[in-house]
Amino acid sequence: MEERIKQLQQEAISALHQADDLIALQDVRVKILGKKGSLTEVMKGMRDLSAEERPAIGALVNAFKDQFESSFIARQLELQQRDIAAKLASEKIDVTLPGRKTASGSLHPVTLVTNEVVEIFSRLGFAVAEGPEIEEDFYNFEALNIPKDHPARDMQDTFYISDDRVLRTHTSPVQIRTMVKHKPPIRIIAPGTVYRRDSDLTHSPMFHQVEGFLVDKRVTFGDLKGVLTHFLNEFFGKGHNVRFRPSFFPFTEPSAEVDIECVICGGKGCRVCGKTGWLEILGCGMIDPEVFKSVDYDVDKYSGFAFGMGLERIAMLKYGVNDLRLFFDNDLRFLKQF
Ligand code: FA5
Ligand code: MG
Repeated sequence: MEERIKQLQQEAISALHQADDLIALQDVRVKILGKKGSLTEVMKGMRDLSAEERPAIGALVNAFKDQFESSFIARQLELQQRDIAAKLASEKIDVTLPGRKTASGSLHPVTLVTNEVVEIFSRLGFAVAEGPEIEEDFYNFEALNIPKDHPARDMQDTFYISDDRVLRTHTSPVQIRTMVKHKPPIRIIAPGTVYRRDSDLTHSPMFHQVEGFLVDKRVTFGDLKGVLTHFLNEFFGKGHNVRFRPSFFPFTEPSAEVDIECVICGGKGCRVCGKTGWLEILGCGMIDPEVFKSVDYDVDKYSGFAFGMGLERIAMLKYGVNDLRLFFDNDLRFLKQF
């Protein structure tokens, strides 16, 4: 019996070493120590031993069990570590690889242009003001020297909300809203959304303007021209032909419109500029004394200039876009280019 146990012990230990994964290892254990395991079988035979033989064989069996247990644990650990190492090797992350970029949106070209305009005028000491898009007839027309039934109302095709409420047709009402609250000197830049019943290559029913105005003692048309020329050079860069063309607005006198050489055709004349070579970007002039009267400014003491610029127009010219309506189609292929 002693021989049998020693032989079994050798077989068991080498079986443990040969087990190549945790399942095979568990199998070996069952084959040796399980209910029908070979050691269990041997131990059943101990019943037939004499009382003298029994202790020695018992000690042998216990030593076997002890060795088996410790070999089993050692092999188990070995196999577990091997599995972990394999897993680490196959799942390893190369932290030096460049990361994946998350897609991010970008500012709309009209927003970019608005920010730049505001920035340029801020450097000249202009402060930003705002007004409502649903505007009272008084601010949009009346106080700007455009009484009801005045033919000048036809200059802008208006969306009426009621008899005395409109979607503002320009940012000029912000002039009135500011002047009734503040005394001169004032220097304001007021960007915002405006609405008109217009739609073609260079007109949209909803568009953006920026109003600028300055009121102080002894302000002249020369100041207006100087400020606008400075702005245009900053915004478009030097070397673009610009012209001041006499015009009419009920709220300025004298009035002018500023055209810039069409960047789409280089001034030759194309669809966008209506074959003229020029594109109108703003209206301007010296604030009419009638407007000062409606806000209780002393017309003998103060003078001022104002201008209203189309933000989509200058965005078109800056980026070479040939249809103003592209700004409002929200086509990502277009918007991604800015
Ligand atoms: C005005 O709106 C005056 N309030 C401007 C002004 C302010 C004059 C202060 C004097 C003093 P006008 O209607 O011309 O003027 O519009 C001004 C600019 O807005 C135009 O030069 C053009 O660039 C732009 N614009 C006008 N209509 C549209 C439209 N439907 N779509 C896009 N841009 C437009
Ligand atoms: Mg105009």
